[in-house]
Amino acid sequence: MVLSRRPNRVASLRCIMMLLAGVIANLQLQLMLAVQPSSGEGEVTLPRQNPDDWVMFSKDTAYFRECVKHFKMNHTWGKIHAPFVDKVEAKEIVKRARVTGLDVIPTLALLDKKNISQYSLELMKSLKQPYIIKSTHMSGGVARVFNNRYHCFKYCDYGTSEMPLGTKAFEVSKSQFTMDIGLDYSRNGGELQYRYIKPQVIFEEDIRSRTATDVTFWWVSGGHPVFVSQQCEQPAGNKQGFQMKRVFLSTDYVRLPIVFNRGVCGDAPPKPASWERQFQIARALGKLFPDETVRVDLYDGKDGKVFFSEFTFTTAGCWRTFSPTLADGLLWALAHHELSPAVASPTYIQRVLADRSWVLLSLDEEGFLIRNASSGHPSPVDMCSIVESFGSDNESKQKFFDECILRARDVKGSALRCLVYRGTDQDMISFGVDRASQDVASRGNLNLCEKNLPARR
Ligand SMILES: *[C@@H]1O[C@H](CO)[C@@H](O)[C@H](O)[C@H]1NC(C)=O
Ligand SMILES: *[C@@H]1O[C@H](CO)[C@@H](O)[C@H](O)[C@H]1NC(C)=O
Ligand SMILES: *[C@@H]1O[C@H](CO)[C@@H](O)[C@H](O)[C@H]1NC(C)=O
Ligand SMILES: *[C@@H]1O[C@H](CO)[C@@H](O)[C@H](O)[C@H]1NC(C)=O
Repeated sequence: MVLSRRPNRVASLRCIMMLLAGVIANLQLQLMLAVQPSSGEGEVTLPRQNPDDWVMFSKDTAYFRECVKHFKMNHTWGKIHAPFVDKVEAKEIVKRARVTGLDVIPTLALLDKKNISQYSLELMKSLKQPYIIKSTHMSGGVARVFNNRYHCFKYCDYGTSEMPLGTKAFEVSKSQFTMDIGLDYSRNGGELQYRYIKPQVIFEEDIRSRTATDVTFWWVSGGHPVFVSQQCEQPAGNKQGFQMKRVFLSTDYVRLPIVFNRGVCGDAPPKPASWERQFQIARALGKLFPDETVRVDLYDGKDGKVFFSEFTFTTAGCWRTFSPTLADGLLWALAHHELSPAVASPTYIQRVLADRSWVLLSLDEEGFLIRNASSGHPSPVDMCSIVESFGSDNESKQKFFDECILRARDVKGSALRCLVYRGTDQDMISFGVDRASQDVASRGNLNLCEKNLPARR
């Protein structure tokens, strides 16, 4: 345990805590808090919580959670979403939407179960290179044909080596795609939207040489672009776009403290020239999904063009979540119209994600602050997930989490929301801080909560 010097006030808190027990104890403590004197001189009022702020009090108000509970394994949902994730149909939908400045990658050929027998080296040789081969109904093998060479580079069952476009390449390719076309991808992870797509193999132009980066992920919710994930690693060696690091940015290109499933870079790449246009496109396509969260993937073309890549509703199979969870909550809140797009400006998104005003102070049995288990968080759910982890089994974890959320609610309106957890008796109290002495206010939130720990009068 990393211990700090025990301040006197912490010592007195410890005495109080030893005298008090259970619910009544907490009530008494709250009464005491209500009569805390203000120290007058040199005080500043901290900026209050914005009344429009959306506060995440439940793990269920999160996009990935809703996805796991209500989208996956749901046939009704799957049928409705199938056309939008079908790589052939999605292009048609986007063309019909007639979005200014958006290009759709040309399809060169299609094969379905009925005519897959026409898969031939001649067909492969006849198509204009470079092109991509992939399945319409799944995240299956993806291959590239360029300079009369064949290279399967993603989810390849027969290896990823590059070879001349000859009989061997044809056989490898045909085996890959004959197998893919027979697969029911939804069996893997319950993403039933893939079950309702006609399985086909699509050959389309490879625009890799026409773009500088991998697709840009526009997270759009309630028709509103919320944040963006952009490739930040420079292409090197044979590394493919999907293997590269990414950064999250607000829609006005300010870096956000969100981490998802990949490594992050030190610096964000320069803002692409087509950024504003991409924003307009993401917003226009988002109008197709007024009550949902969708990831709109766009390619930033070197020649100023923007290409549509795909719509995704179940990113990474919804097996993961963002850190902080609040990012997930914001998507949910916009899709459910709990948060207005007019409020969720890029500045708002930056501010609430960077906010650390939900502060957990974890005390050990001596009343010492456990530094590495004490920190500021952007939402009650983020803060209480730490408290939850102190539980030894599922039942106590749940109890800790619920109690923490309850205490957090009590101090919602304050500028700084402090929650004290003491491991010895598993006691929790919360208090708000709205005023602070000038010198204390300039320090971190953790110090501010620590300084204001309630003392017995
Ligand atoms: C805090 O640090 C101590 C000592 O390094 C370690 O044993 C403990 O697991 C850490 N606690 C947390 C919550 O990280
Ligand atoms: C399945 O999806 C439909 C359409 O989105 C939705 O109305 C329904 O509530 C979902 N069912 C479950 C059990 O979540
Ligand atoms: C295979 O059939 C589909 C329609 O079912 C058609 O769109 C496609 O062009 C056909 N492919 C070839 C190579 O004939
Ligand atoms: C505890 O929760 C985890 C994750 O939710 C679950 O995998 C595990 O089976 C649970 N254990 C018990 C004993 O319920």
